Amino acid sequence: MAVGIFDSGLGGLTVLNAAQKRLPDVDFLYFADSAHAPYGVRDADDIYELTYAAIRRLWDGGADLVILACNTASAAALRRIQEGGLPAGKRVLGVFVPLIEALTERQWGDNSPPREVEVKHVALFATPATVASRAFQRELAFRAIGVDVEAQACGGVVDAIEDGDMILAEALVRSHVDALKRKMPHPQAAILGCTHYPLMQEAFQASLGAEVSVFSQGNLVADSLADYLTRHPDMMGSGEAGFLTTGDPRRVSDRATQFLRRQIEFRAA
Ligand code: DGL
Repeated sequence: MAVGIFDSGLGGLTVLNAAQKRLPDVDFLYFADSAHAPYGVRDADDIYELTYAAIRRLWDGGADLVILACNTASAAALRRIQEGGLPAGKRVLGVFVPLIEALTERQWGDNSPPREVEVKHVALFATPATVASRAFQRELAFRAIGVDVEAQACGGVVDAIEDGDMILAEALVRSHVDALKRKMPHPQAAILGCTHYPLMQEAFQASLGAEVSVFSQGNLVADSLADYLTRHPDMMGSGEAGFLTTGDPRRVSDRATQFLRRQIEFRAA
């Protein structure tokens, strides 16, 4: 049995890590589309095609439930995938909603009308494609009123992380936070709207300042997955756990091992 976790690359490991801690008895089949990362600079059609191909590979591997641990794919492709109709017994879930429910102080699945919430000024850091989609603002507007969102497209950060160039990634984070602060000098909360960015969480927090609450998705998605599997135990799947990549398995395994600080072995997808 296994639950599928998809990302364009290594960022989804931040979600996988939290999910494994939260659900130690559940197996996961992880797919990194490393050959095509980053997705954040691609157009929506391209992201849709690549994401759907990866989802099919995870379904073929026996993972009936696939978590899109990629905001870019969730923003640009998930709705189209769901509206196209999924094969019987297969499900795909994104990573936006648990984060927005946490930000807007809602319980899981609370679909009551939008209301005023504590937080008023929110900084969103995400890939260019996620920012362009405005999917975050759309989901937020279903749940909250009066929240001012300033989005910063963080070009280059995913590439630097995938290349293992953490010095460049840190410099880019600092410059993107500076750019955001020129538009919104005092955000109350910051959303790391790309699953790669928690790997740079300290750099974001240091540049934003200690008074800014930084939200990332790992634990929030892990909690909502635990809740989902309690209600749908039949969605555990039938396949084996493991790590698949469209890139060079050795190179991807080395980076993943460095990020998670435990031995990770990818194989060719
Ligand atoms: N981790 C992906 C996300 O959450 C990165 C997308 C990319 O490849 O640019 O958006």
